[in-house]
Amino acid sequence: MRILVVGSGGREHALVWKIAQSKLVDKVFCAPGNGGIAGLAECIDIKADDVFGLLGFARKERIDLTVVGPEVALSLGIVDEFEKSGLKIFGPNIKAANLEASKVFSKELMAKYKVPTAEFKVFNSPEEAKKYIDEIGVPCVVKASGLASGKGVVVAGTIEEAKNAVTSMMQAKIFGEAGVQIVIEECLSGEEASILVITDSKDVVTLVTSQDHKRVFDNDEGPNTGGMGAYSPAPIVTPDILEEIKQKIIYRAIDGLVQEGIGYRGVLYAGVMLTKDGPKALEFNVRFGDPETEVILPRLKSDLVEVMLAASEGRLSKIGSLEWDSRACVCVVCASAGYPGNYPKDKEITGLDQAGRMPDVVIFHAGTRQMENTILTNGGRVLDVTALGATIKDAINKTYAAVEKINFEGMHYRKDIAKKALK
Ligand code: AMP
Ligand code: GLY
Repeated sequence: MRILVVGSGGREHALVWKIAQSKLVDKVFCAPGNGGIAGLAECIDIKADDVFGLLGFARKERIDLTVVGPEVALSLGIVDEFEKSGLKIFGPNIKAANLEASKVFSKELMAKYKVPTAEFKVFNSPEEAKKYIDEIGVPCVVKASGLASGKGVVVAGTIEEAKNAVTSMMQAKIFGEAGVQIVIEECLSGEEASILVITDSKDVVTLVTSQDHKRVFDNDEGPNTGGMGAYSPAPIVTPDILEEIKQKIIYRAIDGLVQEGIGYRGVLYAGVMLTKDGPKALEFNVRFGDPETEVILPRLKSDLVEVMLAASEGRLSKIGSLEWDSRACVCVVCASAGYPGNYPKDKEITGLDQAGRMPDVVIFHAGTRQMENTILTNGGRVLDVTALGATIKDAINKTYAAVEKINFEGMHYRKDIAKKALK
């Protein structure tokens, strides 16, 4: 088979790495890819949101299965366009992608189909929103309805902060049209976990649990990022809790979509908070998580391509459950100076070969490019250093031992990834 992976981050490197191991696969392409992916796949200079450029390429190259990494392409209807042309693609269609692209759609679906989630209200007017904030007080959570690269959520501790969020989203339009409609939610507390499944609407295959670290600094301080590291499994999600999450969150959401006439094929990712009243859904994503994928796929023993192909053809029932490595996996993100704010690029990275040769270590590139024989930084998140270990503690030690071999000017990373799992 000839496979095309769409995207350019650490998640896509992990997907390409796993896909390239499949005995079904002859050749992997990645659009646009990065400096690390280039070692495993042919990188094609087409952007992830260029739906028609990708379609033209897939047709010309007779691609057998396209796997979509980022949400943007899904929300632009890449799956609908490929299917119209008779091409196989793994991911949800444009209507189902609204589960991530519209928080209003997502929250209303949850309310209608009784998926436990924070109480909420939708606003189209900033004055009404601010009046509501005065009524409910703080803490509260202000969310832009549309896609905002993970930056559209403000957990406000003061009235002023909450109202400022409304002003910047609805009036200053810092997220453009994505913030014209907002959701204001009750603030929940508890530990978070990511639950990812693959589904074809009829059957569900559950992936191992994981947890990411969204804040930039140790002890969950500083601004939110795309994710500074992750670990799997998330021991806080016991088998009983996982079953409850599946029954009340995952299945209800999928069945709800089906009742609305919307089929779902692809990965469904529930961001869950384990509150004292049980698990509640914070959000749904319609794609693999990043950096969760980097700790999930190294543990997967089954052939991912078989599963994705089955889901995209609506015959997931033939797959049964997946086989997993019982070891734990930890991923530490090495980021550029200044990230998640502005950052420089083109810093030479050293130590990659030495770190990559350590046992049980895999280094996924998140934002790099290759120039002759050197690898240069080319993004905010640069490298996802990942290791398997017999225990979480062992995986932590191996990951940080590898991180210490790597360097580039201004590199920073969290020192406490997965520590929570040791408690
Ligand atoms: P989301 O993009 O909706 O997952 O939100 C990003 C992050 O904001 C989550 O991972 C939580 O840490 C936090 N968050 C979102 N919604 C809530 C809520 N209702 N209560 C508390 N924290 C929240
Ligand atoms: N790790 C969070 C996300 O993928 O949205």
